[in-house]
Amino acid sequence: MKALILVGGFGTRLRPLTLSVPKPLVEFANKPMILHQIEALKAVGVTEVVLAINYQPEVMLNFLKEFETKLGIKITCSQETEPLGTAGPLALARDKLVDDSGEPFFVLNSDVISDYPFKEMIEFHISHGGEASLLVTKVDEPSKYGVVVTEESTGQVERFVEKPKLFVGNKINAGIYLLDPSILDRIQLRPTSIEKEIFPKIAAEKKLYAMVLPGFWMDIGQPRDYITGLRLYLDSLKKRSSPKLASGSHIVGNVLVDETATIGEGCLIGPDVAIGPGCVIESGVRLSRCTVMRGVRVKKHACISSSIIGWHSTVGQWARVENMTILGEDVHVCDEIYSNGGVVLPHKEIKSSILKPEIVM
Ligand code: GDD
Ligand code: MG
Repeated sequence: MKALILVGGFGTRLRPLTLSVPKPLVEFANKPMILHQIEALKAVGVTEVVLAINYQPEVMLNFLKEFETKLGIKITCSQETEPLGTAGPLALARDKLVDDSGEPFFVLNSDVISDYPFKEMIEFHISHGGEASLLVTKVDEPSKYGVVVTEESTGQVERFVEKPKLFVGNKINAGIYLLDPSILDRIQLRPTSIEKEIFPKIAAEKKLYAMVLPGFWMDIGQPRDYITGLRLYLDSLKKRSSPKLASGSHIVGNVLVDETATIGEGCLIGPDVAIGPGCVIESGVRLSRCTVMRGVRVKKHACISSSIIGWHSTVGQWARVENMTILGEDVHVCDEIYSNGGVVLPHKEIKSSILKPEIVM
């Protein structure tokens, strides 16, 4: 089987992290977002993943080359010369997606995290015999997603409305599809939205089916959702009694610590924390609901909550970093500084406190 991952867009909502690497390569729970997806696809027998990309393909491919061999999966790029939206890239990659087998293929938004129930999805797709399957999940605020109205007993989609202004329902498109190759006959090679132009038509022909996604789901394309997504992901590891979760008297709740990170005396870490490779957490540090990426140093008695600390940054002694503070790569927060929601661009030094949420250029 094959899969295509939609890797376009500039990831502006995850800046400043996406100023250093393309969004799919930003680590989530100590692993680049896209690897969570590729590993799960591999596990259900996908042999080739096509990355539909419209900028920096070299960066992605160089990075993923190593994983091609490690995971034993073929990873190729289909590069757009202009952004083709969420359907156009399927037309562009047509030759890569279709082979003699006639098998359906997966299509994924690159910024969604879940347990990826691909096996259940394949069974569902076979069972209904329609042309396309998608996963749906319930959310409190459906207006920022594609809303899907289904016939309750069969899952047949009656309506698909992208970003509705008025309330249509609370089941939303999770951005994970399994599509028959025949769908490619509906898509032309031009900028096209699968949500606005393709799905509504298939739904009208009663050939689009939706399955409610078991387990957690989150679009982690913005900082607040990224932090919530980490909580849900770690909860799911906990439910599966994953040995990856840290334990010890200095740990509260669910925490991931890379084996090459060091943690000093008298720290309290958790809940919902991920500490990346090579990090040095000095003594007496308090971390909760945060991600600390590769190579970060957190100095003595600093306190970080609800924040993301970018690669190779440092947080000074007695500093307090909180409320959706996002530090880009290689940012240095001086001793005793307070950051309340500061969004700091790469390579900056922060010498005075950031008292209210703002971008520091
Ligand atoms: N290759 C390529 N080219 N990819 C693109 C392009 C493009 O021109 N435009 C967007 N993408 C990719 C994005 O990188 C992302 O992986 C995916 O398509 C969806 O785009 P987003 O910009 O993240 O859309 P969204 O989050 O507002 O809405 C989408 O996702 C929701 C779930 O998170 C829609 O699919 C909604 O229906 C859905 O509910
Ligand atoms: Mg998104």
